[in-house]
Amino acid sequence: MDRQTLIQAAFAARKQSYSPYSHFAVGAALWCDDGTIVTGCNVENGSYPVSLCAERAAVATAVGMGHRKFLAVAVVAGNRPVTPCGACRQVLSEFGDMAVICAAASDLDTTAEYVLSELLPQSFNLEASR
Ligand code: THU
Repeated sequence: MDRQTLIQAAFAARKQSYSPYSHFAVGAALWCDDGTIVTGCNVENGSYPVSLCAERAAVATAVGMGHRKFLAVAVVAGNRPVTPCGACRQVLSEFGDMAVICAAASDLDTTAEYVLSELLPQSFNLEASR
């Protein structure tokens, strides 16, 4: 997994962000287990709560392409590294305990890196709970 390639992919995806309400553009890139990179951007809506985060947009695209295991996700936004929101952490957790690489859009060398289970400890797992 090449961190720089993943960050660059998220940065490129961020350029497609549709965020006329928050004016906060986010890009995300998933590293799938076969090495494929799948990206997404946030897609806002005039009905604010139905807006879609970049991470979940990327997950929906990747799963639609047949990918179900992610080794890493990169998130690019803002002037400092942004971590995925709670809802996105739960959605990501369905597809592996991946590396979460967060980079500031204003300076891609300003990064923070986590493991998903560190950001969402004790996540809900239906199959493990039956
Ligand atoms: N947003 C994301 O896309 N990902 C995050 O990790 C944090 C927030 C979006 C949602 C909304 O379109 C905008 O950023 C401001 O909250």
